[in-house]
Amino acid sequence: MKILIVGGGNMGMTYAQSILRSKIANHKDMMILEKFPKKAEELAKQEIGTVYGNPDECLSKADLIILAVKPQDINLLFDNIKPYVDPQQVFVSIMAGVTINTISTALGVKKVIRAMPNLPAQVGMGMTAFTSTDDVTRIELVMVQNLLNTTGKTVYVETEKLIDATTAISGSGPAYVYYFMDAMMTAAKQLGFSNSEAELLVSQTFKGAVDLYNKSDLSCEEWISKVSSKGGTTEAAIKSYRDNKVHKDIIDGAKAAYKRAIELGKGKA
Ligand SMILES: NC(=O)c1ccc[n+]([C@@H]2O[C@H](COP(=O)([O-])OP(=O)(O)OC[C@H]3O[C@@H](n4cnc5c(N)ncnc54)[C@H](OP(=O)(O)O)[C@@H]3O)[C@@H](O)[C@H]2O)c1
Repeated sequence: MKILIVGGGNMGMTYAQSILRSKIANHKDMMILEKFPKKAEELAKQEIGTVYGNPDECLSKADLIILAVKPQDINLLFDNIKPYVDPQQVFVSIMAGVTINTISTALGVKKVIRAMPNLPAQVGMGMTAFTSTDDVTRIELVMVQNLLNTTGKTVYVETEKLIDATTAISGSGPAYVYYFMDAMMTAAKQLGFSNSEAELLVSQTFKGAVDLYNKSDLSCEEWISKVSSKGGTTEAAIKSYRDNKVHKDIIDGAKAAYKRAIELGKGKA
């Protein structure tokens, strides 16, 4: 199976490297289309596959095409590649806010998968939700899921509405986590720790708490109760968060992201 990645940026290269590392495809089956000549030149020096600057040289050779350019570049991209598209090719888009209908109408294709990954895909710890048109066969879908799995975990969702919801939870989610981590690091420094000590304390606490959570059947509330003893320190912190409605603020933030994802999908700037 020949894979073409369109857009040799952060995400495109994350996919190329993860797919090669997993050995699902080898170098000779991997193609990258990158329009920026200097970047294409640099990518060509790395051992990631064949790098092309023009779609006429590579598009028709691909069985599967991963679209990984910025959403604002899609109109130019569609104009560039449309003449070389074969309706039997499978298109996987990871572009935020670009709907299946936009892609299938612009390119005249029916086999379209829309996926929403997140940043930890870069370290093999990504979370990706994906959905597809009915024309994608079961075998093609399994094949694509295997490719997406090389960057972390995946979930198939029935509707594109849930892709927008994914954007608001796991897509933007790493930023929410960094926001909470940053606040905890500030608290640590105000309590007397150095920068590096604060980073270590906080990042290891996040990692440990998540690993513990994943190894048990307990809910977050149950873990909070387990950590909080009556009249103790954790209870004081959680009471302060509850009094300040931090929980609701986080939910409201995720809903604001969801609203924005829908607006972007409708082409609002
Ligand atoms: N980064 C994330 O965490 C994340 C998460 C979920 C989804 N995504 C989605 O992933 C996509 C890529 O994001 P990114 O961060 O990887 O962007 P990026 O680093 O800017 O990469 C996009 C690359 O595509 C190139 N390009 C643009 N138009 C092209 C064309 N017509 N033909 C070939 N190459 C073209 C760009 O070249 P120039 O630099 O010359 O423009 C750039 O090198 C976006 O749609 C984004 O919504 C990203």
